[in-house]
Amino acid sequence: MGEENKDIPLASNPSTASPVTPVPAATPAPAVAQAAPKPVVTAAPVKPLASPARRQFMISWLSLAWVVFAAATVSALSTVLRFLFPNVLFEPKTSFKVGKPDQYEVGKVDTRWEDKFGVWVIRSPEGIYALSTVCTHLGCKPSWLDGEQKFKCPCHGSGFYKTGINFEGPAPRPLERFSISLADDGQILIDKSKKFQFEKGEWMNPLSLLAV
Ligand code: FES
Repeated sequence: MGEENKDIPLASNPSTASPVTPVPAATPAPAVAQAAPKPVVTAAPVKPLASPARRQFMISWLSLAWVVFAAATVSALSTVLRFLFPNVLFEPKTSFKVGKPDQYEVGKVDTRWEDKFGVWVIRSPEGIYALSTVCTHLGCKPSWLDGEQKFKCPCHGSGFYKTGINFEGPAPRPLERFSISLADDGQILIDKSKKFQFEKGEWMNPLSLLAV
């Protein structure tokens, strides 16, 4: 038994070991107050300056926008003006004088007024009548062919006698006559607002022939 005690270290023998001063347990270090996290301030994004090309592009678009705006304004204004001042239609006179009867030769077709008034004035032994220069087919203007003594339409070939009666081509009816009378001053007065059609028997109307 004595042998066994020799091998035991003194320190580990409670009876022989000097009393060990207990080392106080380390007190936990007070927690270091952590600073509140500061909000991260990020700088506002800096807008890049427009390059000259970009600036030019913007100016072009701005100019275009102004042009479009100005055009729209002008258009709107013109519409308003047209509404306020509607078009006045100046129609050619329907009533006009063509001189005195003695200025017309019997048997002749007078073409002086065909362009200005759209009539031929013809003096026959019975009197003077005014024929319309509008073809009764589709409205072209025939020409007087003195050599052939007929009106000939250039569009589809209709032909009319001096009296206005159709005799060839597709024209379905004679030329129309206009009202003709003597004015107070002795001149021939033609009124295109009054028409007379042969096929309706209207050439019998005294206003379709000026008996002189
Ligand atoms: Fe004159 Fe057709 S318009 S013949």
